[in-house]
Amino acid sequence: MFWLLMIVTCVVWVVYNKLENRKIVELSRKLPGDLPSWPILGHAYLLRGSDEDQMKVFQKSGRLTINRGGLASYWVANRLYIMVADPLAAEVILKNCLDKDYVMKFLQFLVGNGSIYAPETTLGVQMRAQLSPNQAFLDALEEITQLVATRMVQPWLYADSVYTLLPQYRRAEKCRRLMYEFVEQVIKTKRMEMEQRAKINSRQNPEVLSPQSFLEMLLESSQLTDHELAEEALVISVAGTDTSAVAASFTIVMLSRHPEVQDRVYEELCEVLGDSNIGVTAEDLPRLKYLEAVIKETLRLYPPVPIIVRSVEQDTDLPSGLTLVKGVGIVINIWATHRNPRYWGSDADLFRPERFLEPLKHPAQFMPFSYGLRNCLGYQYAMMSIKTVLASLCRKYRALPPEGADQTTLKEPLRVKFDIMMKDVHKFQIQLESRF
Ligand code: HEM
Repeated sequence: MFWLLMIVTCVVWVVYNKLENRKIVELSRKLPGDLPSWPILGHAYLLRGSDEDQMKVFQKSGRLTINRGGLASYWVANRLYIMVADPLAAEVILKNCLDKDYVMKFLQFLVGNGSIYAPETTLGVQMRAQLSPNQAFLDALEEITQLVATRMVQPWLYADSVYTLLPQYRRAEKCRRLMYEFVEQVIKTKRMEMEQRAKINSRQNPEVLSPQSFLEMLLESSQLTDHELAEEALVISVAGTDTSAVAASFTIVMLSRHPEVQDRVYEELCEVLGDSNIGVTAEDLPRLKYLEAVIKETLRLYPPVPIIVRSVEQDTDLPSGLTLVKGVGIVINIWATHRNPRYWGSDADLFRPERFLEPLKHPAQFMPFSYGLRNCLGYQYAMMSIKTVLASLCRKYRALPPEGADQTTLKEPLRVKFDIMMKDVHKFQIQLESRF
């Protein structure tokens, strides 16, 4: 009886909304998508499979959108989403539509109102992920991001009244509680440590400053409560930590599959760093131009954030003359924009870092860090940290494909999946061989 009532309520709600939003329905007719739509669910049924299937849907719909000139529409239940794979339209949208879409509210469950983000230096505690892989905080972070990602793409889980009745909600709540307790404990400990350090510093030379973690800086300079600080720290962990690690991992996998590219990276490292044992410094990084091109080419083909979602809050005119009407959602398909042959040429699917040694045709044709006012705050930090990791690694080791890898498949695209971020299905497997 409960389910029957739910279904009837959903049907009435969807039909009512569609009638109400005639302008939106008209827009959907001007921008047809080429995938079949189901009654009530629209195209949402496409997202019901595994995380690899979900990524395949974004890839397939992205390619179809390119064929349609860069814009196509898809219904997720009663909400119309315009998919964008064209830099000209993406530029206007990302400059004018700054509101994150409704689906992003599920992330708020995890991070509350936290607004500032950054990476591991975040808390100033050693997670030692490699040494204790069962670390409860990291496990909880992984589990909760998967649960949030699943909810985002499955509209039948949107209503809080339904979701809170399900076991997934209880698992998410458990992870969330564990993470907040951990971070709040870190904050308490840090406050005590800082008080002690302040006493010692007042006795010694106050000019001598030790490096500070992001949390320490926040503690020192803000009036936030411990809970608000925990929210900020969690946002940072979600936005900054895995993204850079995923980008560096994709890059090393690509190097292992393209030995000629790896040789050129190594030559550049020898030229810039010489054979000294001194670690890579911030001053070396801008001189590693080819390494930068390799990282960018990897981010083009494998952007860790393959789609971003925005909401149109006021009618917005596109360069094509089309008007996006208030109330529609936008899916900027970064993965597809990065493979649009109009901007990248007929070899858009090939790994060719040299293309980044030439100027781009349009600034928004490459946007792994998004574009416009709400683009990634950590862009420069991310590029510096990825470059440092790769330069340090490639200087000492040669990356090779995993043992027993089928040589004939090494130039084929990697199998990828979507769980908030895009990741390698095979968990970024490589072998390292010492160069000395
Ligand atoms: C390769 C690494 C990274 C990639 C690919 C990446 C990508 C992105 C993208 C695509 C967005 C826009 C999301 C949207 O509009 O929905 C974004 C936003 C953001 N990123 Fe990153 N990011 C990376 C690393 C970092 C790091 C290291 C930090 C922090 C130090 C960071 C902090 C942020 C913040 C704060 C925002 C939100 C900006 C806003 O909404 O106003 N990101 N990032």
